[in-house]
Amino acid sequence: MKKVLVLYYSQSAQLKSVVDSFVSKLGDKDIRVDIKEIKPLKPYPYPWSFYEFFDEFPDAAHMRGCEVEELDGLDESYDLVILGYTIWFLAPSSPIVGFLKSNQAKKLLKDKRVITLIACRDMWVMAQEKMKMLLGNIGAKLIDNVALTDQGKGIYSFVTTPRWLLSGKKDAFWFFPPAGILQSDIDSASKFGERLNFALRNDLEKRDKPLLKNLGAVNVNGKLIASEVIATRSFYIWGNIIDFFGKKKSLPRKIAISVYAIFLGLMVFTLVPINLLVRKVLNHFQKDRLIELEKKYEEPSGR
Ligand SMILES: Cc1cc2nc3c(=O)[nH]c(=O)nc-3n(C[C@H](O)[C@H](O)[C@H](O)COP(=O)(O)O)c2cc1C
Repeated sequence: MKKVLVLYYSQSAQLKSVVDSFVSKLGDKDIRVDIKEIKPLKPYPYPWSFYEFFDEFPDAAHMRGCEVEELDGLDESYDLVILGYTIWFLAPSSPIVGFLKSNQAKKLLKDKRVITLIACRDMWVMAQEKMKMLLGNIGAKLIDNVALTDQGKGIYSFVTTPRWLLSGKKDAFWFFPPAGILQSDIDSASKFGERLNFALRNDLEKRDKPLLKNLGAVNVNGKLIASEVIATRSFYIWGNIIDFFGKKKSLPRKIAISVYAIFLGLMVFTLVPINLLVRKVLNHFQKDRLIELEKKYEEPSGR
C-alpha cells in the first residue's frame, strides 16, 4: 500500500476545496491518503480587520512563521507529501512557514517527495522560490508544483480579493467578477490526483521526476515577474519600517500602517498600471528572455 500525506492551511476553506478536489481521484484500496490541517496555536482572524491584516504584513514578508500545533498520528513512512498553501504578502502563509520551520516538519519531510499546491490571488512566483528554500532547508525534494489563481484579470482581483478578505464577501459587484478561484478550475484539480494515482500504482514517483507534466499545472505570466521582484524587495523594507514603529496593535504602528496602506493604494492604482505599460513596451524587445524566465519559474511541472 502507498501512503500520501496531504497538509494544508486554509482560512475561508477555498484551498481546502482545492485540496479535496485534487485528492478526489487519488485514494483507493491501494493508496491511502491522510489529510491533516495545519493549525496555528493562536488562530488568525477571518475575515480580517484592516489593522489585523496589515499587522501581519511584516511577519509574513519576513517569513517569521507562527507557532503551530503538533500534528497527531503521523510517522515518516509516506511515499509522497502534498503541501497545500496560500500566499500572504508574496510569501507562503505564516502557518505554513511556521510548520516548515518546526521540528516535526524536519522529521516528517526529510528526504520526502513533495508536491506543492498553491491557491492564491495572482502572485505566487516569488513565494514559490521561498518555498523551495524552506523545503531545501529540511531536505525535502520538490517534484511538482500546481498553482490555481483567482478568476478575472489580475487588475480586478486587486479589488475583489482584499474586499473578500476584509469583509468575507465574494459576490460579483459593479463590473467586478466574484472573488476567488473559478469553481470549474477547482473541480478540474481532480485531474492531478488522477495522474498521481496512476503514477503511484506504477512506482513512477521513485524516479524523483515531475509527475504532473502537460496538465496545465502552472502558467507563469512573464510580464508580472519584474513586478513581483520589485514588490518583494519593497515589502521587506516596509516590513522593517512598520516593525520599527512598535509592537502589534500599538498606536504608532497603526499610524505607520495607515501611511503604508495609502502608499500601497497609490502604487496599485498609479505606478502598477504605468509599470505594466512600460513593461509592455520593453517586453516587446525581450520576448525570448521572458519565455526563458517563464520556463524557469514554471519548473518542475510546466504548463
Ligand atoms: C494576509 C494575506 C495576504 C495575502 N497576500 C497575497 C499575495 O501576496 N499574493 C496572492 O496572490 N494572494 C494573496 N493573498 C490571498 C491568499 O493567497 C488566498 O487566495 C486567500 O487568502 C484565500 O485563501 P484561504 O483558502 O486560506 O481562504 C493574501 C491573503 C491574506 C489573508
